[in-house]
Amino acid sequence: MAGIYIHIPFCRRICAYCDFYRIDDLSDKPQFIDSLMVELNNRKNYLAGEQIETIYFGGGTPSILTKAQLNKILAEIYRLFPVKPDAEITLEANPDDLKANYIKNLAETKINRLSIGIQSFIDQDLAKMGRRHNSKQAVISVKNAYQAGFKNIGIDLIYGLPGLSAGSWQNNLEQAFSLPVNHVSSYHLTYHKGTAFYGLREKGLLKEIPEGESIKQFEMLIDYAQQKGFIQYEISNFALERCFSKHNSAYWFGEKYLGVGPSAHSYDQQSRQWNTANVHNYIKTINSGIDYFEKEILSENDQYNDFILTNLRTMWGISKKEIKKKFGEDKYKHFTKNIGKYIQSGHVKEGAESFTLSTQGLFISDEIMASLMIVSG
Ligand SMILES: C[S@@+](CC[C@H](N)C(=O)[O-])C[C@H]1O[C@@H](n2cnc3c(N)ncnc32)[C@H](O)[C@@H]1O
Ligand code: SF4
Repeated sequence: MAGIYIHIPFCRRICAYCDFYRIDDLSDKPQFIDSLMVELNNRKNYLAGEQIETIYFGGGTPSILTKAQLNKILAEIYRLFPVKPDAEITLEANPDDLKANYIKNLAETKINRLSIGIQSFIDQDLAKMGRRHNSKQAVISVKNAYQAGFKNIGIDLIYGLPGLSAGSWQNNLEQAFSLPVNHVSSYHLTYHKGTAFYGLREKGLLKEIPEGESIKQFEMLIDYAQQKGFIQYEISNFALERCFSKHNSAYWFGEKYLGVGPSAHSYDQQSRQWNTANVHNYIKTINSGIDYFEKEILSENDQYNDFILTNLRTMWGISKKEIKKKFGEDKYKHFTKNIGKYIQSGHVKEGAESFTLSTQGLFISDEIMASLMIVSG
């Protein structure tokens, strides 16, 4: 089983917190789609022998594409790759794009899952973040998508925003979980260098919320999702039973994936490669046969580190049998030696077959993972 990721870099406006590769000059869109076609053809053997179980349009803003453009990309993927009949095909969409007519068009494509970037239901916060939608549009977009036949809808929320009170976060949670969605991804705001929020914080014009508040908001998220019957199957991802995102799960389980488009990453279990994060270079190099990506062959230590990073963040955790089978007794010894103190402190639970993070462990997952890594000398 394998997945295909397509990076659509265009956005109508750049949000104040975002450091994904994205541009707000849409003029290269037609040449970009032609170049995607070339890349798909060039790389049709990257996943040789694998069935395609998931296709994911991420961005940037994939909902900037027309039905015809989406169909063109999908038709090429279906022509070049063996896509399973029940493949999960997700489109990341911005609420302001999800007008009734566009949703109707989407429902006529093979796309069967939407991941809608709501981020907040508070108009003031949406404006601060530079979003183009308001709370009302967010609610309507989800309801319309559901009514048009999309029964598989996920939404994204950001917490830990400057000035976000516990009461406002509770209100966001109540609104989010009252919608017809089966998946919620929620991340704490990260201040990435180069973003507007980062600059404002540096100038003292924007204040980070205290750490205690951040932890409280994460706890509220975990508790509320649980009350609503959502399972926290990864640190920041919650879903109803059998509605886990197959695409994201495949990343965490170390399945192979092909990423096309500028900045997209690919992984074939032996190496990782990443495309140039510049749409002009992408278009230019892809058509002239020059390499448009960098590649890294993964050492055994890299593979072990990846295994820890991806597995420990899930509710299934690290399987004792698998880690021994994949990496041998020596690495297993390194692992058990370093995880011991977190078991004693209650941050990690040891079961008969696996190690998983406890609720307390979720709050210091970065520290735990870092302590289990093997740093190559
Ligand atoms: C590629 S982004 C956005 C997709 C879509 N264009 C949108 O804006 O909704 C995917 C998700 O990452 C999250 N995200 C992006 N930047 C973030 C940041 N700095 N801190 C926390 N979450 C972030 C947001 O929840 C966002 O919906
Ligand atoms: S958050 Fe989404 S819409 Fe905003 S700049 Fe990033 S990719 Fe574009």
